[in-house]
Formats: sequence, C-alpha cells, structure tokens
Amino acid sequence: MTSSDEVRDVQRLTWAGLSAGWEKWDSVIMDQLAPVSAAMIERLGVAEDHRHLDVAAGTGEPGLSIARRSPAGRVVLTDLVPEMLDVAARRARAQGVVNVETKVCRADDLPFDDATFDGVSVRFGYMFFPDVVKATAELARVLKPGGRLCSSVWVRPEANPWTTIVMQAIATEVEVAPPAPDGPNMYRCAAPGFVAALYEGAGLGDVGEWDVDVELVTRSPGQYWEMVSEHVSLAVAALKRLDEPARERVRAHAVAEVGVFERDGEVRVPGVARCIVGTKPDASGTSRGSTGLVA
Ligand SMILES: C[S@@+](CC[C@H](N)C(=O)[O-])C[C@H]1O[C@@H](n2cnc3c(N)ncnc32)[C@H](O)[C@@H]1O
Repeated sequence: MTSSDEVRDVQRLTWAGLSAGWEKWDSVIMDQLAPVSAAMIERLGVAEDHRHLDVAAGTGEPGLSIARRSPAGRVVLTDLVPEMLDVAARRARAQGVVNVETKVCRADDLPFDDATFDGVSVRFGYMFFPDVVKATAELARVLKPGGRLCSSVWVRPEANPWTTIVMQAIATEVEVAPPAPDGPNMYRCAAPGFVAALYEGAGLGDVGEWDVDVELVTRSPGQYWEMVSEHVSLAVAALKRLDEPARERVRAHAVAEVGVFERDGEVRVPGVARCIVGTKPDASGTSRGSTGLVA
C-alpha cells in the first residue's frame, strides 16, 4: 500500500518535471482551460476586496484571474511544488498582477488560521491529493462562514479525447494498466457526485455541480502531439516507458488519429470538466447566498 507521504513524493517529482512543459505551452493550456476558470469565478462571487486562496494553483490559475478581478483584495497561490509556483510568479509579473503571493504547502495541511478566506478554489488539483477527505476538511476550515469553495475535475476519459487519443496510441505499444481507483490520476474524481459528497462530508451546504465544455486548439496534429506529450501527467509517465522507435510509432499513431479533429488549419479536440461549488454555513448553520446550483 502506498502511504500519503509516498504519493506526495511522487507528485512532487512528477510536477517538478512537468513545470517546463506547462510554461512552454502556457497560452495553449490557458486557452483550453479558460471556460473552466470563468465558470468557477462566476460561482465564487469574487468581490473587489476578496481574500482568496487558490490550492494546487500550479502555474497560477484561476488565482491570477481572481486577483485581477479583485484589485483591493489579495490572493494566495499555494501548491506542493515550488517549480510550478515559480512559473506562477513569473506569469504574475508578466501580467502585472501584484496582489498575489505564493506559498508552498500541502492541500491537507494548510498553514492558515481558521476562517481566513472569502473564497477557495482548486482547479484540477483534487485528483492528486493523497487524502481527499482530509484535504476537503482543510479547505472548509480556512473558509470564512458564508465563503465558497469551488473546484474542478475531469469527467470520464471517453469525454476527453484530447488525452485519450494519446493514451490509446501508447496502449498500442505497452500495456497501460488502469490506475488504482483511489490513487492519484487525472480521472480519479470523475464519478458524478464524488467531490460533492466530499464537500457535504466537510459540512458545506448549497452544494452543486455542473459540466463545462473545453476545447484544446493547436495549429496542427504535430503540435497537438508535442503539447500533450510534454505536459499531460498520464501521458508523460507512460511515454517514459518507451524507447525512441516505439515513441515514434506512438507519435505517428496519435497524429493520424487526431486528424479527424482538423479543420480550417486548426486542430480542435473537445473535452469536458466538472465544477463543484459549496458554501460554508454561518454560525446559525445556514448557507448564505445561493450558488444557484443546489443538487
Ligand atoms: C493539473 S495541475 C493544476 C494547476 C492549476 N490549478 C491549473 O488548473 O492550471 C495540478 C497541481 O496539483 C499540485 N498538487 C499535487 N498534489 C498536491 C498536494 N497534495 N497538495 C497541493 N498541491 C498538489 C501539483 O503540484 C500541480 O501543480
């Protein structure tokens, strides 16, 4: 059995190694995921002077977008991996966003007092936490009463051909074992209601979830391959097991398969994410203000 410490050690190594790919493909990744940030920010109800925590912030989203919307507020970007937060800090400087700070820490052991933040976000981080129950309790603890938690995860692989095309191509060369159901991987939180149940277990109210369509847009099948093979955690890990000729066959396979999404000089591959929102009840035990999404 893998301990939580071992899971975190693997995650640290994995994301330290992926940080260069995330920085290289920043604009393509951010365009793909922008609808998810927009949906999360809408439900978080960001005020001008919002005090916000972005957990597993990686290269900075949605925290940087929230900081831009809250000029009198402050956003703390946290992540397990310093290399990812270094990219976030560079992005913040390049965008002229000054009301942010970064802090390396674990999602399930947050170095903040109870009831510190008006809002908490976790975009595509939940699936990598070793103990999702403990992490959710921490996210709820640091929220002020009435504050909202909003996260996003990927739905099932079949709805996300932008990753499955590459994974199926890899499977033509090596056996890709299904990941352990409770181990960290992109699709671990895909089941409807999975994260919503964690929120309810942590005492959040007014919990709701909804799906958001995304599209990965690249200039060519070759660029699609380069981008996915350099930043998608599942693909990068599986590709490490192949020698150069096998990798080249996988590349050719993926490039041929993704061709069906090529139109007018672009490759547009769809995907679906799920957003989950909940509110911390106030002292009387009621959730103030509706997220508009009660399940
Ligand atoms: C897919 S990236 C998401 C980054 C960013 N939120 C975004 O949507 O662009 C997942 C991030 O989760 C972080 N992570 C993994 N395990 C973590 C943990 N236990 N605590 C905090 N962050 C963690 C990784 O370092 C990585 O930066």
